[in-house]
Amino acid sequence: MEKLVSLCKRRGFIFQSSEIYGGTGSVWDYGPLGVELKKNLKDRWWHAMVRARNDIEGLDAAILMHPRVWEASGHVAGFVDPLVDCKNCKKRFRADDPRIKGTPGTPDAQCPSCGMKGTLSEPRLFNLMFKTFMGPVEDSASIVYLRPETAQGIYVNFLNVQQTTRQKIPFGIAQIGKAFRNEITPGNFIFRTREFEQMEMQFFVEPGTDMKWFEYWKQQRMDWHRGLGLAENRLQFHQHTKEELAHYARAAFDVQFDFGGTLGFQEIEGVHNRGDFDLTQHQQYSGKKLEYFDQPNNRRYVPYVVETSVGADRTTLAVLVNGYREEAVEGEAEGRTVLGLDPSIAPIKAGVFPLVKKDGMPEMAVRIADDLREGFPIFYDDSGAIGRRYRRQDEVGTPFGITVDGESLTNATVTVRDRDTLKQERVEAGQLKEYLTRKLAS
Ligand code: GAP
Repeated sequence: MEKLVSLCKRRGFIFQSSEIYGGTGSVWDYGPLGVELKKNLKDRWWHAMVRARNDIEGLDAAILMHPRVWEASGHVAGFVDPLVDCKNCKKRFRADDPRIKGTPGTPDAQCPSCGMKGTLSEPRLFNLMFKTFMGPVEDSASIVYLRPETAQGIYVNFLNVQQTTRQKIPFGIAQIGKAFRNEITPGNFIFRTREFEQMEMQFFVEPGTDMKWFEYWKQQRMDWHRGLGLAENRLQFHQHTKEELAHYARAAFDVQFDFGGTLGFQEIEGVHNRGDFDLTQHQQYSGKKLEYFDQPNNRRYVPYVVETSVGADRTTLAVLVNGYREEAVEGEAEGRTVLGLDPSIAPIKAGVFPLVKKDGMPEMAVRIADDLREGFPIFYDDSGAIGRRYRRQDEVGTPFGITVDGESLTNATVTVRDRDTLKQERVEAGQLKEYLTRKLAS
């Protein structure tokens, strides 16, 4: 993880937020390559979940919602962690922190940070939602929350979307957006942060058909993660036990990815059968009916919901961990670091290089780069030895290296180097667009 964090900073994938002020706790900024990588992941998700299907509609709901939404959803009362404070060092810990010796609130309990005995308070419930105020007056009537999940924006718009699109059940609503949680134990880089992005889809079904759709979505989502190039042996399902199930869930499976090291297998996505919990709650709290009218059978009902909820940042971390490798190169003293990203999500698709900076090679390489840039993110580089330039692109996951050499000037061909096999092919310069399109599609 340390090596990956360092690579991400050095090469402009991810920076600590407000770094020049000493950083903000567990908030990260995506640099030029990171924003492309995460955007590619989000585009893939949006394509698979919305554009390529006729039974899912897109939505972009606001982050700030009516405060009653979070009472209805159960977050005001239930989205809490028990915490203890140390009266001496003022640090705060989860009550179940394994480093705490003794029972908090009693004289023998020892603070895991300053070591003092008897200074830990009794556990108090701490809500993980960020609060702010709407309007000019800062009183309890103007409290609003930064949403801790995007799902609620979908439930409150269920009828707006269904009626405007005339979708029939079963159908889904999908959205990508920021969520905020005042996590007590954030960490592991972008794995658990206080501001993050979710890609969530709520699929509305007829009660009784929910388990069939639950199984369907479990499989679809696992296949999507496989399609990102995540290694088969690093992916698994984890079924929630009765104790683990969230208050809204009738059944839940996590898609887990093996991050290695001390993290091991961890959740990257949750697939939940939420029954009619959310729509029923919003009906009660808003006083508005959220029923579906099944015209052929002339009956009204509150649909059940199967939810798929994946973190864009956590998936970004998974593809980075999955792709990172260091390897020896035959015939070379120096090894190389490679980010073996699936070409479809790589931030740069090809590097374009003149072999040497003379004899018209840079001019031809610039022309090729400019021409390809219309269709693909391209990086032009003419500084340093060619081997160095290849290595720089390997390290950021660029799948192809296009080199203009002496032969290029006589027969208008270039070499294309494959990041993973290191094999080079000669390709006609005029055919490069078709070549890259074909390679990126396969
Ligand atoms: N609407 C259901 C829901 O929010 P969740 O299991 O709490 O379910 C879904 O979150 C996904 O959101 C997780 O699998 C994870 O990928 C991502 N996620 C949750 N909390 C996160 C955090 N603090 N930092 C980064 N990603 C997070």
